[in-house]
Amino acid sequence: MARDLAIDFGTSATRVYLKGRGLVYDEPTVAAVDTRTREVRALGSEAYDMVGRTTHHVVIVKPLRQGAITDFDMAERMLRAILARVGVSRMSRPRVLLTVPAAATSIERRALKQAARRAGASSAFLLDAPMAGAIGLGLPVHDPVGSVIVDVGAGTSEAGVISLGGVVALKALRVGGRDLDRAIADSLRHRFDVVIGDRVSERIKIDVASVDPEAQPLIAEVHGRLTGTGEPAVAEVTTSVVAAAIEDLVKSMIEGVATCLSDSPPEFAQDAIFEGIHLIGGGGLLDGFVERLAAGTSVPVHLAANPVGVVIEGAGRCLDDIGRLAPLFQAADR
Ligand SMILES: Nc1ncnc2c1ncn2[C@@H]1O[C@H](COP(=O)(O)OP(=O)(O)OP(=O)(O)O)[C@@H](O)[C@H]1O
Ligand SMILES: [Mg+2]
Repeated sequence: MARDLAIDFGTSATRVYLKGRGLVYDEPTVAAVDTRTREVRALGSEAYDMVGRTTHHVVIVKPLRQGAITDFDMAERMLRAILARVGVSRMSRPRVLLTVPAAATSIERRALKQAARRAGASSAFLLDAPMAGAIGLGLPVHDPVGSVIVDVGAGTSEAGVISLGGVVALKALRVGGRDLDRAIADSLRHRFDVVIGDRVSERIKIDVASVDPEAQPLIAEVHGRLTGTGEPAVAEVTTSVVAAAIEDLVKSMIEGVATCLSDSPPEFAQDAIFEGIHLIGGGGLLDGFVERLAAGTSVPVHLAANPVGVVIEGAGRCLDDIGRLAPLFQAADR
């Protein structure tokens, strides 16, 4: 039986929607890979558990950076393993709809489609992520009104104005939540000579960081290693230290949105001011971000009820109309 599916191959998480079934896969975009054979041994969170526990030849691989594939072979292997995981066989000649950052270059778009085809898709279509998000939110994407979507992901931050079935204005930065994690890790290294891993810095961001100047200050005890000797070390991290570390990046994200609004055709900008900004992507959950974005753009901001799930939700909804929505996919095929 033919199986159509949608895949949001995100920098931090991969989500898969199977037509007729809904969301069937939602895992970190990582694989545990055998360095000798490049075989995928485990996917997602299971991959982290595998490293160090089994053999020395297994490492963690993240095939995407800043919303784009950086390791083509691994991306293909991961997609193949994911298709197998969700029970879609090559024999069923699945059609795959892939969401892609609106800022992706034509080379990046081609690479994504090719990876999906090599992984077993009989055909691959693309859909711009802000458009998928708008569809997931049930916004009137085909009408002559402008809807503003801001997607703050792990690798990219994109502001798009959507109208008449297309993205009519776009400002995208290759800066996302993962860059905030890095900035936090860099700051701890400079201040305390402590080196921490990616997952620890992400945890600090989620638990302690805030971009609200009035936020209640929090303190976290962070375990890492001393830079010189590699000995275990503990540092106390406060909200203000973390806030200082990420401030410039957050400012640039907000400026990007403001630029998108000021560059968009005036009639759409009017709609935006009236309708407000729809904020999606996990980065939108950063404490105080909604308020800062509203203040920085002078436009009301609505955080989506399920900010990390609306893109795949919207793409999944499109699977019912693959034929009728061809113009949307062609628009993304640039
Ligand atoms: N409560 C939170 N506070 C701050 N950041 C958060 C929170 N929850 C999730 N995030 C961040 O959101 C990001 C993941 O969001 P999302 O799943 O939308 O990204 P993605 O789709 O994988 O990335 P991209 O679209 O850029 O390729 C991560 O950087 C994560 O740390
Ligand atoms: Mg995303």
